[in-house]
Amino acid sequence: MKRANKLVGSWMRAAGMEVRVDAAFNLIGRLSSKKRGAKCLVIGSHLDTVCNAGKYDGPLGVLLGLAVAERLRGRSLPFHLEVVGFSDEEGVRYHTTYLGSRAMLGLLGKRDLDLIREKGIEKARRSHRDLLAYLEAHIEQGPVLQRLRRPLGVVTAIAGQSRIRAAFIGRAGHAGTTPMTMRKDALCAAAEVILVAEKLGVVATVGQCAVDPGVSNVIPGKTTFSLDVRDAKDAKRKAACAKLHRLAAAVARRRGLRLEWKVVQETATASMDRNLTTALRRAAGQAPLLPSGAGHDAAEMALACPSAMLFVRCKDGISHHPDESVRTADVASALDVLTRAVLELAERHG
Ligand code: GLV
Ligand code: MN
Ligand code: MN
Repeated sequence: MKRANKLVGSWMRAAGMEVRVDAAFNLIGRLSSKKRGAKCLVIGSHLDTVCNAGKYDGPLGVLLGLAVAERLRGRSLPFHLEVVGFSDEEGVRYHTTYLGSRAMLGLLGKRDLDLIREKGIEKARRSHRDLLAYLEAHIEQGPVLQRLRRPLGVVTAIAGQSRIRAAFIGRAGHAGTTPMTMRKDALCAAAEVILVAEKLGVVATVGQCAVDPGVSNVIPGKTTFSLDVRDAKDAKRKAACAKLHRLAAAVARRRGLRLEWKVVQETATASMDRNLTTALRRAAGQAPLLPSGAGHDAAEMALACPSAMLFVRCKDGISHHPDESVRTADVASALDVLTRAVLELAERHG
């Protein structure tokens, strides 16, 4: 994160921006307006990535913001233009997502602060009153735009997420001598829950699963696993999580195991701002509207100011994978659209 901030910060400085890194490691480049009492238009995305990621999930939106700033440098705008590279959007480190944007908006709760080892992260907080609007460009991470043969789309809403860390604690034992009816196999218990999650009618993923002691001839004594549940309808997502929790408790009872179940994050579905979305769509030649199943910092920024998102077509919808790919021409279109949208905002606020 520090190396990425240093590199992108040097590009921001070269574009004439004042650059700082806040207490949550968010990188902030700014072109200040001369207008008195000017608010701040933020264009951003995240610079962190998942492990073994592609090149575009996150960094593309930051670099597009930077390219907009390069184009508009020297123009007098009625707002400050900030480009933000948020830190830890993915939740790789603590399994809780949007850390950078939530810290910046003062939205970290006790649950987050108990998890986070970096002390003083709360100092990243800034006033919501300074914020005029937020724009984020991002690869679609899905196949819809490619199927529609359209380079760009505009986001209606970002699906809510629940992230849970769970563990079954059973009893390790000899794989050859312990009868099948006398085991407390923690991995078999987790498997029951994982297979039900797959068929529950929501988007659910178990992306981490650690078996302890993790030895081929030892019965799993403990299995720790993650659960990521999403749906555009918050009630449906919450009901699915409650159902899985009840199931896990019943499995633990039946198998004589102990269950640990900790909700590490719950983010509601976030609607994008209607006016800003309309403006972005106009700038994008009535680009198609689509919802986002992936999480984005815009979901948090929408709690503080009008926010909208532009999606860029990506090859075969592949993301969170090294094969992520975009067309240069599509990125050029996104840059034109973002620039037009910023200039339209400038006219409206000038
Ligand atoms: C972020 O990329 C997420 O949706 O998990
Ligand atoms: Mn991602
Ligand atoms: Mn992303």
